[in-house]
Order: sequence, then C-alpha cells, then structure tokens
Amino acid sequence: MSRLIVISNRVQPAADGAGNQGGLAVALSAALRESNGIWFGWSGGETDHFTGHINFQRHDGVATATVDLEPQDVEEYYNGFANRTLWPLFHYRIDVAEFERGFAEGYERVNARFAETVQPLIEPDDILWVHDYHLIPLGAELRARGVTNRIGFFLHIPWPPMQLLLALPNHRELVEAMFAYDVIGFHTRDWLDSFLDYVSAELPGAVIGADDIITLNGRSIRAVACPIGIDTQAFRDSANQPNALNAFQRMRISANGREMIIGVDRLDYSKGLQERFLGYERFLASHPEALGRVFLLQIAPPSREDVQSYREIRAALDGLSGRINGEYADVEWVPIRYVNKGYPRDELAGIYRAARIGLVTPLRDGMNLVAKEYVAAQDPEDPGVLILSRFAGAAEQMGEALLVNPHSAEDVADAIARALAMPRAERIRRWRALMDGVEQEDVLWWQRRFTALLAAPDPEAPADRAA
Ligand code: G6P
Repeated sequence: MSRLIVISNRVQPAADGAGNQGGLAVALSAALRESNGIWFGWSGGETDHFTGHINFQRHDGVATATVDLEPQDVEEYYNGFANRTLWPLFHYRIDVAEFERGFAEGYERVNARFAETVQPLIEPDDILWVHDYHLIPLGAELRARGVTNRIGFFLHIPWPPMQLLLALPNHRELVEAMFAYDVIGFHTRDWLDSFLDYVSAELPGAVIGADDIITLNGRSIRAVACPIGIDTQAFRDSANQPNALNAFQRMRISANGREMIIGVDRLDYSKGLQERFLGYERFLASHPEALGRVFLLQIAPPSREDVQSYREIRAALDGLSGRINGEYADVEWVPIRYVNKGYPRDELAGIYRAARIGLVTPLRDGMNLVAKEYVAAQDPEDPGVLILSRFAGAAEQMGEALLVNPHSAEDVADAIARALAMPRAERIRRWRALMDGVEQEDVLWWQRRFTALLAAPDPEAPADRAA
C-alpha cells in the first residue's frame, strides 16, 4: 500500500470514531493511520517572515506537518482569494465576490510556498491528495518542481456554471492548472457537468473521452463525481452515548411538548439562513394554530469574521430573528431560538434526534453533511422529516427528503406544514430509504472509491506525467 499525503488548508485529525469531528476528518485520519501517511497544511498561525519551517506533530495517531503563514498571506490567500473571491463565486454569489489582483497573487504565492515546503517530504511511491478551493493550483506547483507522483484533487464546494466562472479574471489559468492532477473529484454530477461545460467551451484543445477522461496537451486527467458521506456507524454509535442521550433528554424537557425544527449551519450566506427564517415566518403567519406549539432551533456558529460579507449576514440575521421573535413571541414561547455557538457532534446527535424536522435549506452547497447526520441520528421507530434544499449536493442522493426551493418562502412554509402533518408510516418509509443511502455511501466508501481511482493509473492515460 502506498503512503498517503493529504494536503488541505486546515489540518484537523480526528480520533478513531471520534464524536466531535466531522466525517471528512475521521475518514482522512483513518486512511492516514492505515498508510502511515502525513497530513500537511496551514497551522492556522502567523509568522512575520515565512521560513517554511514545518511543525511535525502526532494527533490521535495521525502525523501532521503544518506551517505558519505571513499576515499578508492570510489576508490575500485565505481571507482574500479563497473566501472573498472563489467561495462566493463558486456558490453563485457573484454579487459579493471581490476580484483583486493582490488576492490572486497571494493565492499563487501561498500555493507555491506549500509546494516548496511539502516537496521534500514526498517519497517516490507516495500518493498525494489535495483538498478544496484553497489549493487548486497546488498540483501544478508540485509538477513544476518535478513531482511525478499520482496527485488527486477533491473540490468540496460546487463548481460554478461556466458563465459565472468567466467573471473570474484568471479563470483559464485556474482551470488549466487542474490538468496537473491525475484525478479530480466533485461531489455531484451537476458540479462535474459544469466543469465539463467550461472545458468544452473554453479549452479548444481539450478532448473529453469515455469515463470523463479529459486530455489536454498530451496529459489526461480523470474527472469523477464521488459524493462524500458521513461516518455513519460512528455517528450512530455516538448518538447512543451518554452525551447524546443527555442532550436528547434535555431538549425534550425544554421543548415541553412542542415540536422542534432544527437547523445547524456555519454562519455563512450560502446556507440560506435569512430565506429559512422568512420561510418559517411565512409558516407561522399562515398557520396560527401552530403558534406556541412549534419552535425553530437554529444553531449557527460564526465563521470567517474577518470578511465583511460574513459580518453583514450576521447582523442581518440578528435583526431578522429579533423581528420575528418580537412579532410572534408571547411570555411563554419564542418561535426562534437562535444560537451563535457550536456544539460537539455527539450532543448534536441527541439534539437532531429530538427534532421532528431537520431544516437544511442552503442556497448552494457542495454536499451538506448535516442532512445526512440528521437522518443518521433519527429513531427508526419514530423518525423526523428532512426538508432539504434542491440546491444542496446532497439532494442528488436524498430524493426521499421533502425537497424545496429555498428561495421560495411559500415552498418552505408548505414543506414545514406537510412534515408536521406527515403520518408515521410515511415518515418511516422515507427515513428508511434515506438511511439506506447514508449507510451504503458513507465516508469510508467515498474515501476508498477516490483513493482507488487515484492509486490505479488509468490504462488509457499516457504514462508521461511530466509537467
Ligand atoms: C467548508 C469548506 C472547507 C472549510 C470549512 C470551514 O466546508 O469546504 O474547506 O474548511 O468550510 O471553513 P474555514 O474557512 O473555517 O476553514
């Protein structure tokens, strides 16, 4: 077995079956432990002058190698190009995307620094797996330094429609850099199709062959739709541990017979939280009999607060939740419990289980694992109902949820009413179908499928992988 080197902006190893970590961290940590690999990335810390000094550590049996970045790097690469340019643009929010040459330069510089720093750690048989939009050009930077190993890339956010991507000044450079990889992965066929649309329209020399093998200038890459899942078994187990059971009991007591609707999201404009609140308000307005008998618990830990658009969405949600509560609350009941902090995943499992409805309504989302966790946490005898945005990547696999258009307050309001009235037999039938998918296509399935494609050189692909 080849050694795996995972490279991502954030380095977040997780203990085996850990209750507090995301599925991605658990799956990658398992693969790294198995292959005695290394997880390389940004430490999250800063230094006055970049030296390329690597801090080696072990966390829960996973070897990590991290570097500090200069304040200017963090500003231009992380807050800038990654989170002010690519993130909004790739989530179809061209209106908040900012295009600054300095951001693009910082992005290139940090990718080059990452390549330079990680290169000495790479041994000839290693397989490299690069993650997410922060590091798209990293493969090309490594090739330019003579790295000939197999390198895969996985994008965890949507790939935008071609017409949006054209608004990015250096779009062509960015896409051409992806041809340095051997395999590139997306969560859904939709995102992959948008990528192929761009390739056919903008890269005249490219040939798209069978199995989405794309050849450009003599190099072939394999593009694949490979949806990530959760660590279903570990999550179900943690849902039965004392922390989860306590959280479940506490929620039940605090709900006091009322039906609970749960939303859990990073505080991000892509999550459609304003639209969700407005949809819920519409439900309250059109169902006076529900007043005092239902509430929405929205957990939304703040995120990326150095970026103006994130501060704005936070202020907007403060205002909106306050207005709705002011309008509908009475002395014994508030319609929205709005909470700006995060909770450990095992506690969340208990909270999900106590909720009659999981409300997952992003305007765009690469996948959305909350939808899958909500399903995995349910009581099979009396499961809740998942309301899911059709614009989340998860919708491609989760057709048995109540799929909604998150932009339509009426659509969201109708789905809430329907979910609350849904007979138990229908809830069980839908949940079973969803749970089958969550069990079969879990995060280990995802990780093995992608790494198997990456490990096996495609017989069709030319052997020459020089830069
Ligand atoms: C999304 C991205 C990840 C990122 C995470 C948290 O899920 O796809 O790459 O790590 O958000 O965002 P942050 O900026 O805090 O790392």
